[in-house]
Amino acid sequence: MNSLFFRKMVVALTGLFLCTFLIVHLSANFILLLPESMARELYNSYSTTLRESPLIKIIAYVLYAAILLHAFYALLITLRNRKAKPEKYVVNHSNENSTWTSQNMGLIGTIILLFLVLHLANFWARIKLGIGEEVGLDALGNRDVYEVAYTLFHNIYYVIFYTLISIPLGLHLHHGLKSAFKSLGFYHKKGLQLLAKVSVIYAVIMGVGFGIIPIIVYFK
Ligand code: HEM
Repeated sequence: MNSLFFRKMVVALTGLFLCTFLIVHLSANFILLLPESMARELYNSYSTTLRESPLIKIIAYVLYAAILLHAFYALLITLRNRKAKPEKYVVNHSNENSTWTSQNMGLIGTIILLFLVLHLANFWARIKLGIGEEVGLDALGNRDVYEVAYTLFHNIYYVIFYTLISIPLGLHLHHGLKSAFKSLGFYHKKGLQLLAKVSVIYAVIMGVGFGIIPIIVYFK
Protein backbone atom coordinates (compact mmCIF):
# COMPACT_ATOMS: atom_id res chain seq x y z
CA MET A 1 0.00 0.00 0.00
CA ASN A 2 2.94 2.31 0.60
CA SER A 3 4.85 1.53 -2.59
CA LEU A 4 5.94 4.25 -4.97
CA PHE A 5 3.51 2.84 -7.55
CA PHE A 6 0.57 3.18 -5.13
CA ARG A 7 1.57 6.74 -4.21
CA LYS A 8 1.91 7.73 -7.87
CA MET A 9 -1.50 6.24 -8.69
CA VAL A 10 -3.15 8.17 -5.84
CA VAL A 11 -1.51 11.43 -6.96
CA ALA A 12 -2.45 10.79 -10.62
CA LEU A 13 -6.10 9.85 -9.97
CA THR A 14 -6.77 12.60 -7.41
CA GLY A 15 -4.94 15.05 -9.72
CA LEU A 16 -7.22 14.14 -12.66
CA PHE A 17 -10.27 14.56 -10.42
CA LEU A 18 -9.02 18.01 -9.31
CA CYS A 19 -8.40 18.94 -12.97
CA THR A 20 -12.04 18.09 -13.73
CA PHE A 21 -13.20 20.19 -10.76
CA LEU A 22 -11.18 23.15 -12.10
CA ILE A 23 -12.92 22.95 -15.50
CA VAL A 24 -16.33 23.24 -13.78
CA HIS A 25 -15.03 25.91 -11.35
CA LEU A 26 -13.54 28.07 -14.11
CA SER A 27 -16.68 27.75 -16.28
CA ALA A 28 -18.84 28.89 -13.34
CA ASN A 29 -16.52 31.80 -12.56
CA PHE A 30 -16.79 33.05 -16.14
CA ILE A 31 -20.32 34.13 -15.11
CA LEU A 32 -18.57 36.96 -13.21
CA LEU A 33 -17.62 38.45 -16.59
CA LEU A 34 -21.25 38.93 -17.74
CA PRO A 35 -22.94 42.33 -17.31
CA GLU A 36 -23.79 42.82 -13.64
CA SER A 37 -27.57 42.81 -14.24
CA MET A 38 -27.29 39.12 -15.31
CA ALA A 39 -24.18 38.01 -13.48
CA ARG A 40 -25.19 38.63 -9.86
CA GLU A 41 -28.38 36.55 -9.77
CA LEU A 42 -27.00 33.83 -12.04
CA TYR A 43 -23.81 33.42 -10.01
CA ASN A 44 -25.69 33.44 -6.71
CA SER A 45 -28.38 30.99 -7.92
CA TYR A 46 -25.68 28.64 -9.23
CA SER A 47 -23.82 28.82 -5.92
CA THR A 48 -27.03 28.17 -3.93
CA THR A 49 -27.98 25.21 -6.14
CA LEU A 50 -24.54 23.66 -5.55
CA ARG A 51 -24.67 24.23 -1.80
CA GLU A 52 -28.14 22.71 -1.45
CA SER A 53 -27.79 19.68 -3.74
CA PRO A 54 -27.24 16.44 -1.73
CA LEU A 55 -25.25 14.93 -4.62
CA ILE A 56 -22.94 17.95 -4.83
CA LYS A 57 -22.48 17.82 -1.05
CA ILE A 58 -21.11 14.27 -1.40
CA ILE A 59 -18.91 15.33 -4.35
CA ALA A 60 -17.62 18.24 -2.23
CA TYR A 61 -16.44 15.80 0.48
CA VAL A 62 -14.73 13.71 -2.22
CA LEU A 63 -13.09 16.95 -3.41
CA TYR A 64 -11.73 17.83 0.05
CA ALA A 65 -10.45 14.25 0.47
CA ALA A 66 -8.85 14.42 -3.00
CA ILE A 67 -7.04 17.69 -2.13
CA LEU A 68 -5.67 16.23 1.11
CA LEU A 69 -4.64 12.88 -0.42
CA HIS A 70 -3.07 14.61 -3.44
CA ALA A 71 -1.00 16.96 -1.25
CA PHE A 72 -0.01 14.22 1.24
CA TYR A 73 1.13 11.60 -1.29
CA ALA A 74 2.81 14.23 -3.50
CA LEU A 75 4.77 15.32 -0.42
CA LEU A 76 5.82 11.72 0.28
CA ILE A 77 7.01 11.29 -3.33
CA THR A 78 8.92 14.61 -3.22
CA LEU A 79 10.66 13.67 0.05
CA ARG A 80 11.55 10.23 -1.31
CA ASN A 81 12.97 11.74 -4.53
CA ARG A 82 15.09 14.16 -2.50
CA LYS A 83 16.51 11.31 -0.40
CA ALA A 84 17.22 9.25 -3.48
CA LYS A 85 19.09 12.08 -5.21
CA PRO A 86 21.62 13.68 -2.85
CA GLU A 87 23.75 14.42 -5.94
CA LYS A 88 21.11 16.98 -6.98
CA TYR A 89 23.24 19.75 -5.57
CA VAL A 90 26.36 18.95 -7.58
CA VAL A 91 26.64 19.16 -11.37
CA ASN A 92 24.23 16.53 -12.58
CA HIS A 93 23.87 15.77 -16.29
CA SER A 94 21.16 13.17 -15.74
CA ASN A 95 18.76 16.08 -15.23
CA GLU A 96 19.31 17.56 -18.66
CA ASN A 97 16.01 16.22 -19.95
CA SER A 98 13.91 17.35 -17.04
CA THR A 99 12.49 20.84 -16.83
CA TRP A 100 12.65 23.36 -14.01
CA THR A 101 8.95 22.70 -13.38
CA SER A 102 9.38 18.94 -13.08
CA GLN A 103 12.20 19.42 -10.56
CA ASN A 104 10.20 21.90 -8.50
CA MET A 105 6.72 20.37 -8.44
CA GLY A 106 6.90 20.14 -4.63
CA LEU A 107 7.64 23.87 -4.30
CA ILE A 108 5.01 24.90 -6.88
CA GLY A 109 2.43 22.58 -5.30
CA THR A 110 3.12 24.12 -1.87
CA ILE A 111 2.58 27.64 -3.30
CA ILE A 112 -0.78 26.50 -4.74
CA LEU A 113 -1.73 24.87 -1.43
CA LEU A 114 -1.00 28.12 0.43
CA PHE A 115 -3.06 30.01 -2.15
CA LEU A 116 -5.88 27.52 -1.61
CA VAL A 117 -5.87 28.09 2.17
CA LEU A 118 -6.25 31.85 1.61
CA HIS A 119 -8.81 31.32 -1.17
CA LEU A 120 -10.96 29.05 1.00
CA ALA A 121 -10.74 31.55 3.86
CA ASN A 122 -11.93 34.33 1.51
CA PHE A 123 -14.82 32.44 -0.07
CA TRP A 124 -15.63 28.99 1.20
CA ALA A 125 -15.28 29.71 4.96
CA ARG A 126 -17.41 32.86 4.71
CA ILE A 127 -20.05 31.39 2.40
CA LYS A 128 -20.32 27.81 3.60
CA LEU A 129 -19.22 27.99 7.23
CA GLY A 130 -20.36 31.54 8.02
CA ILE A 131 -16.91 32.41 9.44
CA GLY A 132 -15.82 36.06 9.21
CA GLU A 133 -17.75 38.97 7.73
CA GLU A 134 -21.40 38.03 7.13
CA VAL A 135 -22.45 37.48 3.49
CA GLY A 136 -25.60 39.45 2.53
CA LEU A 137 -28.54 38.29 0.39
CA ASP A 138 -29.42 39.31 -3.18
CA ALA A 139 -32.89 40.30 -4.50
CA LEU A 140 -33.85 36.61 -4.85
CA GLY A 141 -32.85 35.82 -1.27
CA ASN A 142 -29.70 33.88 -2.24
CA ARG A 143 -26.38 34.47 -0.48
CA ASP A 144 -24.65 37.24 -2.41
CA VAL A 145 -21.50 35.34 -3.41
CA TYR A 146 -21.15 37.66 -6.42
CA GLU A 147 -20.66 40.59 -4.02
CA VAL A 148 -17.93 38.66 -2.17
CA ALA A 149 -16.00 38.12 -5.42
CA TYR A 150 -16.72 41.65 -6.68
CA THR A 151 -15.45 43.27 -3.46
CA LEU A 152 -12.36 41.05 -3.33
CA PHE A 153 -11.45 41.80 -6.94
CA HIS A 154 -11.78 45.53 -6.36
CA ASN A 155 -8.80 45.29 -4.08
CA ILE A 156 -5.76 45.70 -6.33
CA TYR A 157 -3.54 43.53 -4.07
CA TYR A 158 -5.90 40.56 -4.43
CA VAL A 159 -6.13 41.13 -8.18
CA ILE A 160 -2.33 41.03 -8.46
CA PHE A 161 -2.12 38.01 -6.15
CA TYR A 162 -4.79 35.98 -8.00
CA THR A 163 -3.31 36.89 -11.37
CA LEU A 164 0.26 36.01 -10.35
CA ILE A 165 -0.81 32.70 -8.83
CA SER A 166 -2.16 31.64 -12.21
CA ILE A 167 1.47 31.25 -13.40
CA PRO A 168 2.48 28.48 -10.94
CA LEU A 169 -1.04 27.07 -11.35
CA GLY A 170 -0.57 26.77 -15.13
CA LEU A 171 2.92 25.25 -14.75
CA HIS A 172 1.70 22.77 -12.13
CA LEU A 173 -1.29 21.71 -14.23
CA HIS A 174 0.83 21.32 -17.36
CA HIS A 175 3.45 19.08 -15.78
CA GLY A 176 0.94 17.38 -13.45
CA LEU A 177 -1.43 16.37 -16.23
CA LYS A 178 1.43 14.99 -18.36
CA SER A 179 2.78 13.04 -15.38
CA ALA A 180 -0.68 11.69 -14.51
CA PHE A 181 -1.11 10.35 -18.06
CA LYS A 182 2.31 8.70 -17.80
CA SER A 183 1.61 7.19 -14.36
CA LEU A 184 -1.62 5.72 -15.68
CA GLY A 185 0.30 3.97 -18.43
CA PHE A 186 -0.45 6.05 -21.56
CA TYR A 187 3.12 5.60 -22.67
CA HIS A 188 3.26 4.81 -26.37
CA LYS A 189 4.76 7.62 -28.40
CA LYS A 190 1.88 8.82 -30.57
CA GLY A 191 -0.61 8.90 -27.71
CA LEU A 192 1.87 10.62 -25.44
CA GLN A 193 2.43 13.40 -27.98
CA LEU A 194 -1.31 14.01 -28.24
CA LEU A 195 -1.72 13.97 -24.45
CA ALA A 196 1.25 16.35 -24.10
CA LYS A 197 -0.61 18.77 -26.41
CA VAL A 198 -3.83 18.32 -24.41
CA SER A 199 -1.85 19.13 -21.23
CA VAL A 200 -0.52 22.38 -22.72
CA ILE A 201 -3.93 23.50 -24.00
CA TYR A 202 -5.61 22.63 -20.69
CA ALA A 203 -2.94 24.43 -18.62
CA VAL A 204 -3.06 27.56 -20.80
CA ILE A 205 -6.88 27.76 -20.62
CA MET A 206 -6.83 27.31 -16.82
CA GLY A 207 -3.89 29.69 -16.22
CA VAL A 208 -5.17 32.45 -18.51
CA GLY A 209 -8.81 31.92 -17.44
CA PHE A 210 -8.22 32.12 -13.69
CA GLY A 211 -5.64 34.88 -14.17
CA ILE A 212 -7.80 37.14 -16.30
CA ILE A 213 -11.10 37.00 -14.33
CA PRO A 214 -9.88 39.19 -11.42
CA ILE A 215 -8.48 41.78 -13.88
CA ILE A 216 -11.73 42.02 -15.87
CA VAL A 217 -13.86 42.18 -12.69
CA TYR A 218 -11.56 44.93 -11.35
CA PHE A 219 -12.33 47.10 -14.39
CA LYS A 220 -16.07 46.28 -14.40
C1 HEM B 1 -11.04 33.77 -10.52
C2 HEM B 1 -10.67 32.97 -9.58
C3 HEM B 1 -11.59 32.26 -8.63
C4 HEM B 1 -12.83 32.62 -8.14
C5 HEM B 1 -13.64 33.87 -8.43
C6 HEM B 1 -13.27 31.56 -7.26
C7 HEM B 1 -14.47 31.56 -6.54
C8 HEM B 1 -14.85 30.62 -5.61
C9 HEM B 1 -16.05 30.66 -4.82
C10 HEM B 1 -17.11 31.74 -4.92
C11 HEM B 1 -16.07 29.57 -4.03
C12 HEM B 1 -17.15 29.17 -3.01
C13 HEM B 1 -18.26 28.43 -3.73
C14 HEM B 1 -19.49 28.30 -2.86
O1 HEM B 1 -19.40 27.67 -1.84
O2 HEM B 1 -20.52 28.81 -3.25
C15 HEM B 1 -14.87 28.81 -4.31
C16 HEM B 1 -14.54 27.61 -3.73
C17 HEM B 1 -13.43 26.86 -4.06
N1 HEM B 1 -12.43 27.21 -4.94
FE1 HEM B 1 -12.37 28.89 -6.06
N2 HEM B 1 -12.32 30.56 -7.24
C18 HEM B 1 -11.27 30.95 -8.06
C19 HEM B 1 -10.11 30.25 -8.30
C20 HEM B 1 -9.80 29.02 -7.77
C21 HEM B 1 -8.60 28.27 -8.04
C22 HEM B 1 -7.48 28.74 -8.98
C23 HEM B 1 -8.68 27.11 -7.33
C24 HEM B 1 -7.71 25.96 -7.25
C25 HEM B 1 -6.43 26.04 -7.43
C26 HEM B 1 -9.93 27.14 -6.59
C27 HEM B 1 -10.37 26.14 -5.75
C28 HEM B 1 -11.53 26.19 -4.99
C29 HEM B 1 -11.96 25.12 -4.10
C30 HEM B 1 -11.24 23.79 -3.87
C31 HEM B 1 -13.16 25.54 -3.52
C32 HEM B 1 -14.04 24.78 -2.50
C33 HEM B 1 -15.12 24.04 -3.29
C34 HEM B 1 -16.41 23.96 -2.52
O3 HEM B 1 -16.57 23.10 -1.68
O4 HEM B 1 -17.28 24.77 -2.78
N3 HEM B 1 -10.58 28.30 -6.89
N4 HEM B 1 -14.12 29.48 -5.27
